Amino acid sequence: MFSKRFKWSLESNRFARLIEEKKRSGARILDLTESNPTRAGFDYPAEEILGALAQAPSMLYEPAPRGLPVARESVAGYYSERGYSVDPERVHLTASTSEAYSFLFKLLADHGQSVLVPQPSYPLFEFLAALEGVELRPYELHYVHPAGWRIDFDSIEKAVESNTRAIILVSPNNPTGSFTKLREVGQLNEVCARHDLALIADEVFGDYGFGDDENRAGSLVSNDSVLTFVMSGFSKVLALPQMKLGWIVTNGPAGLRDQAVERLDFIADTFLSVAAPVQHSAPAWMRLRRSIQAQILSRIQDNLDWLRDATDDSPLRLLSAEGGWYATLELPRQFTEEEWALALLEKDDVLAHPGYFFDFQREAFLVLSLLPRSETFCEGGERILARVEQV
Ligand SMILES: Cc1ncc(COP(=O)(O)O)c(C=O)c1O
Repeated sequence: MFSKRFKWSLESNRFARLIEEKKRSGARILDLTESNPTRAGFDYPAEEILGALAQAPSMLYEPAPRGLPVARESVAGYYSERGYSVDPERVHLTASTSEAYSFLFKLLADHGQSVLVPQPSYPLFEFLAALEGVELRPYELHYVHPAGWRIDFDSIEKAVESNTRAIILVSPNNPTGSFTKLREVGQLNEVCARHDLALIADEVFGDYGFGDDENRAGSLVSNDSVLTFVMSGFSKVLALPQMKLGWIVTNGPAGLRDQAVERLDFIADTFLSVAAPVQHSAPAWMRLRRSIQAQILSRIQDNLDWLRDATDDSPLRLLSAEGGWYATLELPRQFTEEEWALALLEKDDVLAHPGYFFDFQREAFLVLSLLPRSETFCEGGERILARVEQV
């Protein structure tokens, strides 16, 4: 009855079952996986956010495949404030970055063709690709302590096949927090040109860098050497995932770029998925981003500073990160990361992601969200330390 694309078990896993049991028994779980910003105690200007939705033009239905000019101009304005020139005619609005991925897979790949994805990285790729009939081929990010993560270009060369259509970059990456470097962009452009591949840059965490570094590539919206798609959206830029607004900025050699834009128009026109009130609210919401981002960055910095101090001189190693919403801890290898994560949940009521959720290449890592309130984060962190020091 059902399509073969759907290949997942709907049974709940051991973590989900254990969490349910814990909740039934009334346990207070310290959730260090919480990455929903709307549940993390930030002070959103609710009146301004909700007030912006009540605008008279939203009563008119104006189907526009790329999205309404007012919203696309505010996206272009966001880049212009960061020093990039973006033509609003090359912006396509989507309901989310996830939907942007699905549009790009429809645009670039036939059933069974592949795209390259970084490893470790965002776990949703598996589902986003499989639901479009697209294969994923991983390339590796290598970690050297304390210098950080870099792209393993040999693994890119090994992963590319004749039916590969694109390379996905996540900058900064989830969960490693690593930015693409300037010199890596040159190499990526060369590989893409040689193998006729598009570059897809997921920059949802782009505003959450820790300090400045001139080696970082910045946004790829100006990358015109190869066909390039940059994605982002309000779920991270404004920490408003419930408002459902993402976008794609297309760039590249003019002929190819324009063909891509026309085809994206066609795909977007089939769905017309972004609500008018959301589009009309975009300029007002965009103006709130600095105050919302400042709160998030300050929380992230506090949690990270605490974690750095707490893990110094401990059996835990905090991996170097340059940005994003996550921290990665390396644990002693006498247990697997699944055993560590289950023990923490079972015995200490602490929920943390084991590294294999993100396809870390070796054991044993835990990934923590840096968004939880600092009391929760520190209490959870202390319990992790105590558990590791006990064994
Ligand atoms: C790297 C990355 N890309 C995309 C998304 C999804 O964003 P959206 O809510 O816009 O679909 C996330 C969500 O956590 C993410 O971590």
